[in-house]
Amino acid sequence: MAAVFGRVSVIVTLLVCFHGGQAQHLLTGDATSDLDSAPTPAVHCWCATYPNVTLCSWPEPPQSPPTHYVATYSERHNQSVTKQCHLIPPLWYCRLPNLKLLTDYIINVTAVYSGKSSSHLASFMLEEIVKPDPPEDVRVYSHDIRDLVVEWSTPSTWANLDIFPLKYHIKYQWENRGTLKIVNLGPLENTRVVLKQFIPGKTYLFQVCAMELLGLGKCSNWSSAVNVTVPVMKP
Ligand SMILES: *[C@@H]1O[C@H](CO)[C@@H](O)[C@H](O)[C@H]1NC(C)=O
Ligand SMILES: *[C@@H]1O[C@H](CO)[C@@H](O)[C@H](O)[C@H]1NC(C)=O
Ligand SMILES: *[C@@H]1O[C@H](CO)[C@@H](O)[C@H](O)[C@H]1NC(C)=O
Ligand SMILES: *[C@@H]1O[C@H](CO)[C@@H](O)[C@H](O)[C@H]1NC(C)=O
Ligand SMILES: *[C@@H]1O[C@H](CO)[C@@H](O)[C@H](O)[C@H]1NC(C)=O
Repeated sequence: MAAVFGRVSVIVTLLVCFHGGQAQHLLTGDATSDLDSAPTPAVHCWCATYPNVTLCSWPEPPQSPPTHYVATYSERHNQSVTKQCHLIPPLWYCRLPNLKLLTDYIINVTAVYSGKSSSHLASFMLEEIVKPDPPEDVRVYSHDIRDLVVEWSTPSTWANLDIFPLKYHIKYQWENRGTLKIVNLGPLENTRVVLKQFIPGKTYLFQVCAMELLGLGKCSNWSSAVNVTVPVMKP
């Protein structure tokens, strides 16, 4: 299938190069015998509003024993200075304020329950954990014989679009004689694309993800799927 993109830009500069991409889990537990059920919280941090808002979350605690959390963070090279990661509802999330760029951080989430505690440490650099929210309002409609237009809106939580533009990937799939076919397209910098040569009468399922233009972090989750059936044209 041929794709016609309004504008294809080539990004030649990758300003920063990171090893890995995933927050690294350092170690668990300064706890206790593990007889109890409250688990050491495995912490996951991501930044959906680069560079300002970073959230961390960990699994919802069990009903029992009653558990509360203390979340602190520090710069890796200066661990004597710790700050609070502010807990937000539901209380297995916390929010980090403006973090410094290109700085290694360590977050320490401690579950406190039944007079015991257990901690989980994770380290990350802001640039590695960038992950926008998915594109919104994905629309697919037929354009011309066998052509489809795919349009979407940027994730509204990505507040600094002017300074940090996004790029997008499209995935579409359909069934052909019982086999699932999948096509991945991108990166695209527009929020609209015309795609050609679809098979009349077939149903295609479209999804879009968003990524920081220079490639920081990861693509968002896929947007929820939009189905479109290509019209069968009259002779
Ligand atoms: C976002 O972060 C930048 C630099 O870290 C800061 O100058 C700016 O005020 C922040 N904006 C908001 C809305 O917090
Ligand atoms: C650690 O943080 C303190 C307080 O902010 C600062 O005075 C000190 O210079 C920092 N040390 C390093 C190695 O950055
Ligand atoms: C993690 O935080 C807990 C609670 O504030 C503290 O007791 C523990 O020493 C910290 N662990 C590390 C390795 O900093
Ligand atoms: C992305 O998908 C994962 C796994 O399905 C889910 O846990 C997470 O909440 C999703 N994130 C967003 C921003 O939708
Ligand atoms: C899209 O269509 C396929 C096949 O017709 C169906 O299996 C799938 O559930 C539909 N998905 C949505 C999101 O409507």
